[in-house]
Amino acid sequence: MNSRHNKSYFYLVLTTILSFYACNIFASAAETTPEIFIFDDRESQGNACARVVIEKIKENQIQGKRTVLGFATGSTPIFFYNAFIRMVKEDSIDLSTTITFNLDEYVGLPPNHSESYAYFMEEHLFCELAYPHYPLGFRREHIFLPQGMAKRYADLSTDEQQALKIQFGCTHVEDSLTSEEENWILQFRADQYESLIDTLGPIDIQILGIGTNGHIGFGEPGSSFTGTTMVVNLTENTRRDNARFFDNNIDFVPYQAITMGIGTILKAKSIILMANGANKAAIIAQTLSSPISEQLPATALRQHSSVSFFLDQYSAENLSLCEQ
Ligand code: F6R
Repeated sequence: MNSRHNKSYFYLVLTTILSFYACNIFASAAETTPEIFIFDDRESQGNACARVVIEKIKENQIQGKRTVLGFATGSTPIFFYNAFIRMVKEDSIDLSTTITFNLDEYVGLPPNHSESYAYFMEEHLFCELAYPHYPLGFRREHIFLPQGMAKRYADLSTDEQQALKIQFGCTHVEDSLTSEEENWILQFRADQYESLIDTLGPIDIQILGIGTNGHIGFGEPGSSFTGTTMVVNLTENTRRDNARFFDNNIDFVPYQAITMGIGTILKAKSIILMANGANKAAIIAQTLSSPISEQLPATALRQHSSVSFFLDQYSAENLSLCEQ
């Protein structure tokens, strides 16, 4: 390469780098305004949210497309699930091709633990709408949740046992996993979950709740907006909030979870954030008005082009500008 070629090569590299950074700066600065809907009570909020999801499934079916849904757990979406079950049955909606991904799961709770999110989904949705109980229902092979239980070798699937063997280079003799093996297998699962979302997605509608500290999924304050599914440490605030599900004893609340990252959530085509109760009023107002920051994870939603906030009147009480 002569010096003239060297120079033009240098300029080409320079402009590529500059335009890459410019794109990223503009991409991260682009701010959108979520649509806000305020409801009198949790029932009408749940009905409206279920109606949106049902209409999307119907619309996709007309176009010969399957629907991919992202589900949340916790107290917020319970009325949504009740309404969804009722409307699916009333309209005889075919869910046999619909795929579901849950946001998160506690580390260390088996699926049959009454506070695991697998158990929650079974109790509030799948026991009613999975095949064969509902003949047009969700097929088990289309239902995905992160798996947080990896205490013993027996907790792993055959593929996971194989992956662990390759990683650690020996056949497992003890039934219990070391903490290094456990951490490795949980992250392995998280990466596989992300790949599955990329393969089967994008998610058409992601349902979210919000933590009092602004977490979405279990993406706690400080989470990167580009993060993918990962193992996270739960904050003391979140563990305290969730102690109400664990006999009001924070000691029973797990310390870790596997969660979609904020980046995973932002890959969904559209997002509905639900909130209810006066204890969410402050964080909802901050989410909509504070500077966008990784310290307040839900502000990431203001960088997505299709987000709706479905709020009950109590969680909306600190908003002055919102109308239904
Ligand atoms: C649950 C989840 C969490 C909850 C949030 C609010 O799958 O990802 O972000 O949505 O902690 O919980 P509730 O609804 O119990 O107030």
